[in-house]
Amino acid sequence: MIVLKRFYTRSILRHIRYPYRTNATTTQRKPDPFNIEYDPIKQAVIYPSELIIQNKKYPTDSWTNVNGHILSRIGQNLHQQKNHPLYHLTNRLRQHFYQYYDPRKLSPKFSIIDDLRPIVTTEQNFDSICIPADHVSRTKTMNYYINKSTLLRAHTSAHQVDLIRSGLNAFLCIGDVYRRDSIDPTHYPVFHQCEGVQLFNKEELFIENRNVRGDKDYLQIFGSNEHRDATKQEGHTLEAVKLVEASLKKTITDLFKNLFPNAATLNSRWVDATFPFTHPSWEYEIEIDGKWYELLGCGIMEHSVLENSGLSKDHIGWAFGLGLERIAMIMYGIPDIRLFWSNDSGFLSQFAFDDSTRAVRYKPISVYPQCINDLSMWMGKTIIDPSDFHDLVRAIGGDLIEQVVLIDEFYSAKKQRHSQTYRIIYRSMDRTLTKEEINMVHKDIESHCKQQFGVEIR
Ligand code: PHE
Repeated sequence: MIVLKRFYTRSILRHIRYPYRTNATTTQRKPDPFNIEYDPIKQAVIYPSELIIQNKKYPTDSWTNVNGHILSRIGQNLHQQKNHPLYHLTNRLRQHFYQYYDPRKLSPKFSIIDDLRPIVTTEQNFDSICIPADHVSRTKTMNYYINKSTLLRAHTSAHQVDLIRSGLNAFLCIGDVYRRDSIDPTHYPVFHQCEGVQLFNKEELFIENRNVRGDKDYLQIFGSNEHRDATKQEGHTLEAVKLVEASLKKTITDLFKNLFPNAATLNSRWVDATFPFTHPSWEYEIEIDGKWYELLGCGIMEHSVLENSGLSKDHIGWAFGLGLERIAMIMYGIPDIRLFWSNDSGFLSQFAFDDSTRAVRYKPISVYPQCINDLSMWMGKTIIDPSDFHDLVRAIGGDLIEQVVLIDEFYSAKKQRHSQTYRIIYRSMDRTLTKEEINMVHKDIESHCKQQFGVEIR
């Protein structure tokens, strides 16, 4: 496939988002609070020279690809909103991890940080945790950049190094993370993660570290002849790695036993994985109704991450990162990730209780029908990147969009043009949509596609 150089900037705007109500006759545009404009003649998003986000100014540049829909999520902190399901889950994580006690500090072992702003540097999000300069996870297609060196964090791992530097050796870090992703009932461009980290020195790892003759310091974390292989990093001894692995896996299985009291009857498994900041690495999955769900990624922290945090060769540690929505959806039976952003009292009232350990099952208020509309287009000068299309659809259709799938793509030699067909599935969380209403949104998506991407609707 020939990929032509894009000549337009990215994603469109909040001011064309979600103006539709059943009784709307015209589509009114709200002014964009971030002053992001769309120029239909240049077919480009025009960013102001600086974006003001939470009273801080950020210069924009050719990397800028945030939009108002995404920026408006900053500061909402669903995990801190009383009676929100993510608030209850955060409380349960807090309660669970506060049980671990540090007798030397006379305080809980894990510090819990849940209020770090989601605007981070590329240094924090990537470099500090050894993500290589050419790694795919850095692309504009996958992230929301404010400018070349500033982005909305794509994971809570962005704070590992800062928190260790600040002196912590065991912590959870909870917050909202942002990724340009597919649209479906389990993916949303903003979700929440909980990072967990625990470090060990020799004394903490090898308690009673003597051999039968009473020689002290018998076991070591680091050895001079240790090579990197599938089981460990260079420098680490296998016995140290195995103990940290056991601690990590016990911590995680204990957590899930607490969160899912019927965990004994749930099947779970560790799957080998790869992350640039851990080795070895695993994903933890549980089986529900015959389907496996990935709940988290984890592993032994890369030693260079600890070095970046200012530690010398005396510590080893584990880290995990789990997705809160995924767990809350399973825990409460919430069928669609968009519900977490709902202000509908029918949803929120089901979580209005003080005791976060209460076991509740979400009862759908009612089930509204889906409406499926396909959109086929001949490409203009450029081939649309599906993530740009997703952003455009989300910006216009807002939360009426349940799913967007690229269902067909081909090149016509006769026409000398590329074609793409997307299936857009509309469904409201709180009402039955009328045909007219959906057609209006669909037509608006079509006309913005023509304007922004120069396509011809087939
Ligand atoms: N940051 C990883 C992600 O978002 C998860 C992870 C965290 C994996 C810590 C390993 C260690 O996918």
